[in-house]
Amino acid sequence: MTDARAQPLYDTYARADLRFERGEGVWLFTDSGIRYLDFAAGIAVNSLGYSHPHLVTALKTQADKLWHLSNIYEIPGQERLGQRLVDNTFADKVFFTNSGAEALECAIKTARRYHYVNGEHERFRIITFEGAFHGRTLATIAAGGQPKYLEGFGPKVEGFDQVPFGDVNALKAAIGPETAAILIEPVQGEGGVRPVPEEELRALRGLCDEHGLLLILDEVQTGMGRTGKLFAHEWSGIQPDIMAVAKGIGGGFPLGACLATAEAAKGMTAGVHGTTYGGNPLAMAVGNAVLDVILEEGFLERVQHVALIMKQGLASISDRYPEAISEVRGRGFLIGLKCRVPNTTMVQALRDEHLLTVGAGDNVVRLLPPLVATEADVREALARIEAAAERLSVTPRQKSA
Ligand SMILES: Cc1ncc(COP(=O)(O)O)c(C=O)c1O
Repeated sequence: MTDARAQPLYDTYARADLRFERGEGVWLFTDSGIRYLDFAAGIAVNSLGYSHPHLVTALKTQADKLWHLSNIYEIPGQERLGQRLVDNTFADKVFFTNSGAEALECAIKTARRYHYVNGEHERFRIITFEGAFHGRTLATIAAGGQPKYLEGFGPKVEGFDQVPFGDVNALKAAIGPETAAILIEPVQGEGGVRPVPEEELRALRGLCDEHGLLLILDEVQTGMGRTGKLFAHEWSGIQPDIMAVAKGIGGGFPLGACLATAEAAKGMTAGVHGTTYGGNPLAMAVGNAVLDVILEEGFLERVQHVALIMKQGLASISDRYPEAISEVRGRGFLIGLKCRVPNTTMVQALRDEHLLTVGAGDNVVRLLPPLVATEADVREALARIEAAAERLSVTPRQKSA
């Protein structure tokens, strides 16, 4: 039996038996020097890959000046990043956090406060969708509604009504006098890379306008260029009232943000919300540096181009190895392979090919390469995926040329 004293860490993670020491671009290197092609990118966090020189310089330069400053003082890096986010999105206001769950907490609080200051104190309920994932705080596990994350953590936080994914009639039926907002991921990430059709997002926007609800988008995983637009909702042409962002915005430095229109944020006045670390100078230096790169002319177009090559290559592999992969879905560099074999088997088979991916719900394997992945990187990944799919297929198939 394992001696509990020899295991200082919580047992909350089923960790792979891999120890990485350093990273470079799309590659991770183990402590024994073996390299892995990383198409998981810290689960959509390392948006610019590893050791990106612009990010490293920004962090080092800031580290020499000032690490932390309380939010009781002005923080110029926050003003700059906040203004740049405002200039490039629907939002008028930004609140910085350290993580996605905190960005969601701020989004939920913003929506409730909006109705509160409007004098509609009874409107606090938020409609969410089956299969959603919004984080692991008490409120965000209630919002996500997944029994596996709620079990054993006491009474579920009140105020979240879940409806089946894609069922607009159930959604309409769930809207009542206490409803404050609808919260949705434009593409369910952890739920299995399930995109919300563009027309459905537009229908949600319409329902919110009709019923005086706020539309909250969780773009923690889909945002910051992941789908080939700065934010995934841009594909549908709609705008949310509130949006949670994290992961890729910090390129590996813990950073999140809640964005809102001035109207939606009008209840978030001095003293009603706060954070010690959120938006600290180190995070702001890196966040601004990430944005420098993502906003460079042609960057997102290149992501779209390379991602299309990846998706076409994957579709071809799925056609040839249907016993392993039954469907390829998603957009940009947020792609799901729905597997016929257990997704854990596929993740392991890919790891054996030294390609890192990550599982998701609905028996899906997620591919989330750094946005800087090149066509050559993608072709390298496709070769490894093909090799794994072939090994996992009983019937041998014709290989690609
Ligand atoms: C869509 C979505 N929302 C929220 C979160 C929570 O973010 P964090 O783990 O930074 O709290 C995640 C994390 O995987 C996510 O994918």
